Amino acid sequence: MHAAALPVNGLTALQALETLGLSRGQRLLITNGGGATGALAIQLAAAKGIGVTASASAAAAERLLGLGATEVVDYHDPNWSAKVRGGFDAALIIATSMADDALPLVRDGGRLCSLTSDAPPEERGITSWDLYVEPNAAQLAQLVAAGTLKLAPEPLPMSVGPAAFARVVTGQAGGKKIVLIRA
Ligand SMILES: NC(=O)c1ccc[n+]([C@@H]2O[C@H](COP(=O)([O-])OP(=O)(O)OC[C@H]3O[C@@H](n4cnc5c(N)ncnc54)[C@H](OP(=O)(O)O)[C@@H]3O)[C@@H](O)[C@H]2O)c1
Repeated sequence: MHAAALPVNGLTALQALETLGLSRGQRLLITNGGGATGALAIQLAAAKGIGVTASASAAAAERLLGLGATEVVDYHDPNWSAKVRGGFDAALIIATSMADDALPLVRDGGRLCSLTSDAPPEERGITSWDLYVEPNAAQLAQLVAAGTLKLAPEPLPMSVGPAAFARVVTGQAGGKKIVLIRA
């Protein structure tokens, strides 16, 4: 079940972090750290010594701090972006309509990678681009071999497939991957 939940989100998180090219001690802002991709990106970044500030619901804060985030800010607060220290080396956008709020928080010459097809125009020497996950067996093997990534898939019987799909597309899955199983 865990293997079924890993490929798309794990590869997306890994490929995004590789293109951002951050190193130990640098700071990364992740919008939607609570989702399936964000929670994996937090773990991969933290393992490299990158400081991660994640936007998420307040209810997700404890979980994300436990995964290695250094700070979690509640995105429901309309002033969330004013409550974090700017100057991030990079931003990873995993929530729609958050790129424009995140861009001012990135330092001059920094980097912004959007997974939601809304990379903003470049400014202040910031490189900004959209990224789409690509299949890569070697990277998947790397993720599995690490053996340290925490996933929390929700198993549901096949019979509730349509309702489960509706939960995912309406954002009601709470950041979990739903895995349908023969019950
Ligand atoms: N480009 C690519 O290759 C690629 C690959 C994978 C995913 N994606 C995209 O990445 C996005 C996230 O997908 P996912 O599967 O990782 O996420 P997900 O698990 O579906 O994310 C759901 C979570 O998002 C949180 N959320 C909703 N709006 C938010 C906001 N404005 N700021 C912070 N958190 C917010 C929700 O929190 P609450 O319920 O607590 O409010 C919920 O926990 C989707 O748009 C997806 O299409 C792109």
